[in-house]
Amino acid sequence: MSKQELETVAQSMVAKGKGILAADESMGTIKRRFDSIKIESNENNRRAYREMLFTTKGIEEAISGVILFDETIRTSASDGTPFPQVLSKKGIIPGIKVDKGPVDIPGFPGEVVTEGLDGLRSRVKEYRELGAKFAKWRAVITIGDGIPTYTCMEANAHALARYAALCQEGGLVPIVEPEVLLDGSHTVERCEEVTEKTLKITFAKLFDHRVHLEGMILKPSMVVSGKDNPTQAGVEEVAERTIRCLKRTVPAAVPGIAFLSGGQSAESATEHLNAMNAMGPHPWEVSFSYARALQDPALKAWKGQAANVSVAQKIFYHRAKCNSAARSGKYNKQMEAQAA
Ligand code: 13P
Repeated sequence: MSKQELETVAQSMVAKGKGILAADESMGTIKRRFDSIKIESNENNRRAYREMLFTTKGIEEAISGVILFDETIRTSASDGTPFPQVLSKKGIIPGIKVDKGPVDIPGFPGEVVTEGLDGLRSRVKEYRELGAKFAKWRAVITIGDGIPTYTCMEANAHALARYAALCQEGGLVPIVEPEVLLDGSHTVERCEEVTEKTLKITFAKLFDHRVHLEGMILKPSMVVSGKDNPTQAGVEEVAERTIRCLKRTVPAAVPGIAFLSGGQSAESATEHLNAMNAMGPHPWEVSFSYARALQDPALKAWKGQAANVSVAQKIFYHRAKCNSAARSGKYNKQMEAQAA
């Protein structure tokens, strides 16, 4: 794929009014999600759940792309159509999670680095053949006593840059995801400081590895207070700090920033995105690539039962449309009340 083609895909991933659905839960993560509604994580239930999401009528109005997991990109809907085709028929771009998850860094208690570079060149080729046009790699940075260390941020940034360069070579647009976890009791100031450092180091490594910035998407976390801190920054403060941090670190050549939700409630994730867009215009598109904040209310309504599919789809469509409105700062609380 030429640079021009990578750029075109990257731009359509962050098209106006649209964002990305992350539906790439690993086996461990989907099991936790299914545990929460007391259903078993087996192949049939995983297929039924993803089919419920992907076949929601009109979802393409708000969703530009979907990130799939290795099993899901090889799964077909109940009518036999492979999931990547179910999506592309609706004009939704299929993507794929290619990292193999975080492992402990020896000598650095409490810190992790993401694995998955070995054999990545050939996996990229296979995923292209299966219909993927973009990829995702998640790095995890934890805030705590004396952490993150430079070693942790550097190791993760290096892996992200190696991954991004390999994807672009093989024709996939890389989503570069350095997630600063919201776990902990740290202040919002501390989160801003860590996020700024993480992004600076990440972009330095992307530059070293000759990653084409116009052909990638950044997926960061928002600058928020630690989950266990009794003093929580408000919506405006989160939006201001997050945008300030990104302006200091993300080159304007990057076409779009698509946030993860990271454990925020569905409504907070929408409100934060809305407030950031209301402060625009910005040098890049400011969008979403949520998993939990798009899926949780629908998952709870679905409960693993065919009879609940249409009500769950209605709820999923509503969340997607709220985030679509937030893409241009046009979301408001009344939209929630109207749906209730
Ligand atoms: P959350 O929106 O649930 O944080 O998930 C996004 C994601 O893809 C994490 O890698």
